[in-house]
Amino acid sequence: MKQANITPHKGLVSPADRGRIFGHGACAVWLTGLSGSGKSTIAHEVEKRLTERGVHSFVLDGDNVRDGLNADLGFTEKDRRENIRRISEVSRLFTLAGMVVLTAFISPFEKDRQKARSLFKKGDFFEVFVRCPLELCEARDPKKLYARAREGAIREFTGIDSSYEEPENPELILDTEKLSPDDCAYRIIEMLVNKRIIK
Ligand code: ADX
Repeated sequence: MKQANITPHKGLVSPADRGRIFGHGACAVWLTGLSGSGKSTIAHEVEKRLTERGVHSFVLDGDNVRDGLNADLGFTEKDRRENIRRISEVSRLFTLAGMVVLTAFISPFEKDRQKARSLFKKGDFFEVFVRCPLELCEARDPKKLYARAREGAIREFTGIDSSYEEPENPELILDTEKLSPDDCAYRIIEMLVNKRIIK
């Protein structure tokens, strides 16, 4: 619901001013995929490489968001929607601040990802599908959550008894069955260079 009686204050610092100070553009790199597909690993690898290049970037993922800002949310469809809505808004603020924000959330629903995209200017939002077959994510099972979901100890687990809608039109697809985290990070950096976000 949009708030009544709210008038945003127009800032005196433009995106171009921030770009001049930082020496690069701002955007959101939205990683989506199953649990265990490699989203966080890739996001942190990209963040490290961007930092080495002097690019201001930050990773938002379950560990730093579901622990704090979204600590009140679980995994029902309604809560996931709210999770993604808040992350979308926070990501927008990061890009307004002139940074490259990397998000690593399952974000299972196409409608919510489209809504996230709609908050950004064209060309400032890159949806990256971190693609990995469910069987492989389940075999990796780094947090042993798939095993618990199969036992019925966790309900509404994505891929088991909660759906994942594959992106319809992502800017990039990374097949983590074949590509290493290094390869994936390289491709994201390459995309950001090609799109002139960074040099
Ligand atoms: S999202 O669906 O709302 O985008 P999010 O990316 O924040 O999910 O959180 C997913 C992480 O939470 C998983 O990688 C896993 O570690 C953990 N998790 C706990 N319960 C569930 C569940 N029911 N479904 C999926 N992931 C879960």
